[in-house]
Amino acid sequence: VEATPQWAAEVRRLADLRGATLLAHNYQLPAIQDVADHVGDSLALSRMAAEVSEDTIVFCGVHFMAETAKILSPQKTILIPDQRAGCSLADSITADQLREWKADFPDAVVVSYVNTTAEIKALTDICCTSSNAVEVVESIDPGRDILFLPDQFLGAHVKRVTGRENLHIWAGECHVHAGINGDELAEKSRTHPDAELYVHPECGCATSALYLAGEGFVPADKVKILSTGGMLDAARTTASKQVLVATEIGMLHQLRMAAPDVDFLAVNDRASCGYMKMITPAALLRCLVEGRDEVHVDLETANIASKSVQRMIEIGT
Ligand code: 13P
Ligand code: SF4
Repeated sequence: VEATPQWAAEVRRLADLRGATLLAHNYQLPAIQDVADHVGDSLALSRMAAEVSEDTIVFCGVHFMAETAKILSPQKTILIPDQRAGCSLADSITADQLREWKADFPDAVVVSYVNTTAEIKALTDICCTSSNAVEVVESIDPGRDILFLPDQFLGAHVKRVTGRENLHIWAGECHVHAGINGDELAEKSRTHPDAELYVHPECGCATSALYLAGEGFVPADKVKILSTGGMLDAARTTASKQVLVATEIGMLHQLRMAAPDVDFLAVNDRASCGYMKMITPAALLRCLVEGRDEVHVDLETANIASKSVQRMIEIGT
């Protein structure tokens, strides 16, 4: 199945027939982004999932995102074009591991990145995304220990910004972002000295970006640590002609549409998330024709998890 105008028209026709709204993450294939009703980062899409009036949501993203939509709207039908679209970061902690960690810090507040399973969210006090992680941590009494999971690089970024010494960080990582390394970043910055630099905080290179800024390779005001939604906001107002982008390459599509006169370059053009790319034009079409894969979350788990997710969508911009 090719992503032709006929394919797009058929997707729209079937979505209307089902009374479904299509949500797509910024890392989806360009054709999937273009056919969706709404495109955004994980926080914006969670908010959207809670607000839309349609009874059916087709979630073009990875499984934890569709699960989050189900947690927020258990009465809605949530479909994902391929339920095998997982996430290496969400896989980096199990519920048993979290229970053991909590037992070591019985009074700690548990902050989980939204890239986690419903079971982990049910063991969590407040969820966060990369766009509101700092605000979420700042909302917590400074005297309380915090268990931050599962992403070590986002955790290190939040700890640096907030200066919270009592923030304990799980050692998980996303294989795509961890693979964007500091050497590549240094090399690209050296060969593009006038470019701005947008770095997603899940990157293994987020630390190096700050190091580079500190060492004067890149002026500090040119380095921005941003969520995918934050990158788009920054792109709309940038005065730079060129921006180096350290995140999953699907992001370049929205950035180029938001600021057509700016030259956006990937720091690593092999940084593609195979899970996100499982949502192919063929999979989306099949999903709309057959009404599957449907996402289910056990109702009791969803009820408990909804509290931590609700707190997340209330905090930050
Ligand atoms: P954001 O859209 O919140 O920046 O998340 C990035 C990500 O890796 C989602 O899988
Ligand atoms: Fe998970 Fe990384 Fe893929 Fe995002 S890019 S869905 S964090 S594996």
